[in-house]
Order: sequence, then structure tokens, then C-alpha cells
Amino acid sequence: GYPECVKIVEVGPRDGLQNEKEIVPTEVKIQLINMLSGTGLSVIEATSFVSSKWVPQMADHSDVLRGIQRAPHVRYPVLTPNLQGFQDAVAAGASEVAVFGSASETFSQKNINCSIDESMVRFEDVINSALEKHIPVRGYVSCVLGCPHEGYIEPAKVAEVARRLYELGCYEISLGDTIGVGTPGSTSKMLQSVVKEVPPQALAVHCHDTYGQALANILTALQMGVSVVDSAVAGLGGCPYAQGSSGNVSTEDVLYMLHGMGIETGVSLPKVIEAGEFICTALHRRTNSKVAQAQSVK
Ligand code: HMG
Ligand code: MG
Repeated sequence: GYPECVKIVEVGPRDGLQNEKEIVPTEVKIQLINMLSGTGLSVIEATSFVSSKWVPQMADHSDVLRGIQRAPHVRYPVLTPNLQGFQDAVAAGASEVAVFGSASETFSQKNINCSIDESMVRFEDVINSALEKHIPVRGYVSCVLGCPHEGYIEPAKVAEVARRLYELGCYEISLGDTIGVGTPGSTSKMLQSVVKEVPPQALAVHCHDTYGQALANILTALQMGVSVVDSAVAGLGGCPYAQGSSGNVSTEDVLYMLHGMGIETGVSLPKVIEAGEFICTALHRRTNSKVAQAQSVK
């Protein structure tokens, strides 16, 4: 069976924009987040406190977080790879953070410049400091269905990294198909392995749509007890350290599918489409959302 309601975690302002070559003006990022805040979304990942040498697009993280109008029912998590990022995030008013690890050794090195084991030590510091301040921490696992460098990743490795993050105190583990290569077959095998270590209620799926499999993979995860889905308005994005990977599954398409199945999200599809039109106009680009494309020709 399927869940009655699904929580959408909107990652467009972070995962979507981090890969843009042209620096997006801070004001545009703020307006996008403000528009998304009025759609009924309950979680909007706002930015990341990473090194601006690594990801120049996120250099304005503090201004973005300080500049948005926070809606009372919305949470605005930010990425924090280490204690320095965490402290900067707290100084800018972050009330929820996320650490991001990988199931692939090579990707861990390329993305955050350390091994998986080293990353766990850093994350432990971040998580302990956060929990002291009653700041909830989300944990990401990248490359759960394949790595741009190593190819196939063992489901057991994904389960191990997910378990370690969960044991360190992350309240939710988001499983990232960073390069969008998974299918319902590999998604199901991976999840069967992960749910032995982390309960499905504490899992999210984070699908990039490179091979057009994201909706099918999400549906597979919903059948297996997952009820949190990451997506990006207009299907923005990609990871700067995973070449050739395309954007996240679009929030519009996920909403259309879920609402069509009678699953509640609390999110207004027309309002998300409006926010998508705003950011696509600002970026001079066509939306990646099939639903938004279909609705705009009507
Ligand atoms: P490093 O160079 O190993 O860091 O980077 P370091 O500790 O050796 O410090 C070197 C310099 O960086 C120092 O400055 C530090 O102050 C500075 P210097 O003394 O040379 O002037 N530094 C920082 N500056 C700002 N913010 C910080 C910070 N930490 C150190 N937090 C680091 C390590 C993790 C910082 C770097 O590798 C990095 O920023 N990586 C981020 C990469 C990234 O953002 N990737 C995209 C997000 S992950 C993703 O998209 C996947 C996901 O969507 C899920 C999925 O799809 O699978 C989440
Ligand atoms: Mg991602």
C-alpha cells in the first residue's frame, strides 16, 4: 500500500541552484524561497554553508538565510559539511541543518575532500553541537544507486552509511541517487537492504532524473514504506561534483503524481508552478517539469 500523506522536501534553492554556472543574484534566491514558502511546503532547503572555493554559487549563504521571510509553518534546513559550516549557519540563524555523506569512497573524496570514515568524525562533531542546541540534523547518503567514479555501489554499503548517520543522531536519512541511474529494480534492492538498519519512517528518497526513472523510483520507495520525497521546483539542478548529472525530479511532477493517487501533500501545485515560472524566467531557461510544460501550453 501507499502512505496517506507524503512530506515533500523542496531542495531547489540549494541542490537546484548550486550547479548554476552564472551566479544567481541573492535577491532572486530570496524571492524564490519566499514564493515557495507560500505554497504549503513544510520544508525548504535554503542554501549550504560549504566553502565558496568549492561551490561559488552558495557563497551568499548567510545573506540568503538572513534575507528570507520565514513562514511560521516552514522549516529551512541548510547543508553543513563540518563544524565551521555549522557555526556559520547558526550565526546566520539556521534552526535545522543537514550533513551529507556518501556510500562511495571516491565520491566522498571528490565532494567533501575526506574518506567516509573521516566524514563520520566530522559529522559527529556537527551533530553533537547541533543536538546540544536542539537543532535537528538530517543526513544525506549520496551515490546510493551508483557513483560517477565507481559505478555500482553495494546496497550493503548504503545500509551501513545510513545506519551510521542514524546512530549518530540524524532524525531522517535521505537516500540520494546523485546521478539518477537507478531503476525500480535497483531502488527496491537498495531499500530492502537499508530498511534492515533504518526504519522506513526515518527515510527519504532524493532522486535525480538523469535517466527519467525518478517518478518510478519514488513510487517504488512509497510502496516500501517511505513517505518523504525530496524534489526541486522546475526540476532545477545537479551536483557540481557529479558531472553529467541532471536536476532533481521536479516538485511539480511529484505533486501531480501524488495528488492523482489521492495522496495528500498539503502543497498547492499551481503555486509551485508559479514559483517555477519565476525562477525559469530569472535563469532564462525552460522548466524541466513535464507538468509545468503541459500546463503552460493550455
Ligand atoms: P577542505 O578544503 O578539505 O577544508 O574542504 P579544510 O577544512 O581543509 O579547510 C580549507 C579551507 O576551507 C580553509 O580556508 C577553511 O576555512 C575553509 P583557508 O584557511 O584556506 O582560507 N573551509 C570552509 N569555508 C567555508 N565553509 C566551510 C568551510 N570548511 C572549511 N564549511 C569542505 C572541505 C567540506 C569545506 C569542501 O570540500 C566543501 O565545501 N565541499 C562541498 C561540496 C558541495 O557542496 N557539494 C554539493 C553538495 S552535496 C550534493 O549535492 C548531494 C546531495 O544533493 C545528495 C545527492 O544528490 O546524492 C546532498
Ligand atoms: Mg542532490
